[in-house]
Amino acid sequence: MKHIYQKGSNEEAPVLLLLHGTGGTETDLLPLAEMVSPGSSVLSVRGNVLENGMPRFFRRLSEGVFDEEDLILRTKELHDYLELASKEYDFDKKKVVALGYSNGANIAASLMFHYEGALKGAILHHPMVPRRGITLPALSDMPVFIAAGNNDPICPAAETNELTRMLEEAGAKVDNHWENYGHQLTRSEVEAAGTWFHRYF
Ligand code: MLT
Repeated sequence: MKHIYQKGSNEEAPVLLLLHGTGGTETDLLPLAEMVSPGSSVLSVRGNVLENGMPRFFRRLSEGVFDEEDLILRTKELHDYLELASKEYDFDKKKVVALGYSNGANIAASLMFHYEGALKGAILHHPMVPRRGITLPALSDMPVFIAAGNNDPICPAAETNELTRMLEEAGAKVDNHWENYGHQLTRSEVEAAGTWFHRYF
């Protein structure tokens, strides 16, 4: 997958896996990684799907309606790629914390829904429920930070709460951060993610 890898100064810190939103690229979230964990190595990946020229991590049928078959396939693709990248760049694949926004948060959530131990933790900015009706793998105390907007038309509060419940039922330790805005990524939610990160890692 098209990506950027930057080796960090702190070998002990988790590797941050950056996953952009629809229409973004692998450079978008680099400043966030710097704010959240400046010493971490960073693997920032570009989604392989194009929607009217805009990169995404999986196809959707319409706004908020995911192409489930493609979601499953692309989640496997990303999971396999993490394995490959960990060998190429010599990092511990058990020490990866995802940092995703919107469509990138959704594929990060999908990794947690489908693969046990794929992530050590996750920062999800404005995620949705990636799939329903499946049993999640054990997420045994995995720390998850979810930032959401009270007025987000794409991810309504009820869906954030549903995702939180599903992750908690699988054993994750979820912290929610609410903003009174919409779908946009705000500086204050990134700062809150940084505070959360340093509490757990
Ligand atoms: C998605 O398609 O993943 C969500 O609707 C968020 C977005 O990318 O707009």
